[in-house]
Amino acid sequence: MTSQPAVTDAVPTFDDDPFGREILTDPYEFHRALRDLAPVVLLPRYGVYAMGRFDDVHASLQNWQTFVSGRGAGLSDFAKEEPWRPPSLLLEADPPDHTVVRKAMGDVVSPRTVRALRAGFQIRAERLADQLVEQGTFDAVSDLAEKYPLEVFPDAVGLPPTGRENLLPYGALAFNAFGPHNDLLDAALAEAAPVQEWVLASCQRDALTPGGFGAQIWEAADRGDITKEQAPLLVRSLLTAGVDTTVYGIGNSMYALASNPDQWDTLHRDPELAKFAFDEALRWESPVQTFFRTTSREVTVSGTRIPEGSKVLLFLGSANRDPRRWGADADRFDIRRSAAGHVAFGMGIHQCVGQPVARLETEMVLKALAVRVRTVELAGEPKARLNNTLKGWASIPLRVTPA
Ligand code: HEM
Repeated sequence: MTSQPAVTDAVPTFDDDPFGREILTDPYEFHRALRDLAPVVLLPRYGVYAMGRFDDVHASLQNWQTFVSGRGAGLSDFAKEEPWRPPSLLLEADPPDHTVVRKAMGDVVSPRTVRALRAGFQIRAERLADQLVEQGTFDAVSDLAEKYPLEVFPDAVGLPPTGRENLLPYGALAFNAFGPHNDLLDAALAEAAPVQEWVLASCQRDALTPGGFGAQIWEAADRGDITKEQAPLLVRSLLTAGVDTTVYGIGNSMYALASNPDQWDTLHRDPELAKFAFDEALRWESPVQTFFRTTSREVTVSGTRIPEGSKVLLFLGSANRDPRRWGADADRFDIRRSAAGHVAFGMGIHQCVGQPVARLETEMVLKALAVRVRTVELAGEPKARLNNTLKGWASIPLRVTPA
């Protein structure tokens, strides 16, 4: 006979602040303590529940009926507080509304439509890689991780040429806004007004170049797949979720490889491993560290009862390093590991719709460098860039030797 675990309302509390500078800079000890304390803990500072173990995070992401997104994927509960902007039709929506819009977006950004971008993305990655190898030393953030996505992605969307410098501050604002109203959010809000105006204008049909993802979203509205009111908000989803994420993804991949020279050597010998290196980097240092859900009913998770209407903080970055799932060497960056199944792109109905774009960008960059660069090393102290949701770098000075 198998015994059922006892159900308890007694939830251990954790006083540490996961949105404080110390833990945002280096969250891994906190993650370990969170996972080891209990499957579900309470963070009294914010009055929210939290989960850090892989199985519980994974199961909650898939259980959209109980862990809903429509009340916000951040700390703020849209049932109680006015959102800072009209909610996302994808990230902050539940079925049946989410289903219709997700289908339309999935038709626009699909493995097939993204394949058509491959040749162009490859040429630009190779050109940039040639230039960086020629330089010998460069900053993997400003000279690569920011530069490449900002070159290729706005063109793929069909954005106007002017004002693209607004994309990074807008993403920084949106991702900070999922967290508490702390100094990081204040700083992001301080530069927000002109940025938001540009984003709003760039989502309109007449601002978008024919053939791009943006124009294709408007065509879906013409066909009646979505409404004309929904179209600009869907373009906005691309601008919010499609830039900072890949900047952090490329930066984190380069940091992982540069600080593990044996792994660069493995990649250099077999550049076809680029896509596996990206998945392992996403697992090892997940660009999107956290998302919230709200419980639509009382639910029991691994024996702990969570009341209806609770905000629950899911630590994707912790789940991706849980030794219960990844083994005793979960903290080791190993591009030959099978990292498939990580939750860095989420899981279930909200799983990242932009994955093919993120994968294409990073694969092109890593491959182009892997064939040209024999060794890569840190040429200075990397500097963290803090954000309430994203983990990554403001600067990673690198020195490379050509192949
Ligand atoms: C390394 C890069 C990226 C990472 C780590 C990432 C991560 C994520 C995660 C974790 C989610 C799930 C959110 C949730 O469950 O609440 C998500 C959803 C989403 N992502 Fe990404 N993303 C990346 C790149 C992109 C790109 C390039 C685009 C646009 C082309 C994009 C567009 C979206 C959208 C629209 C959603 C919402 C989907 C839905 O709710 O149905 N992402 N992403």
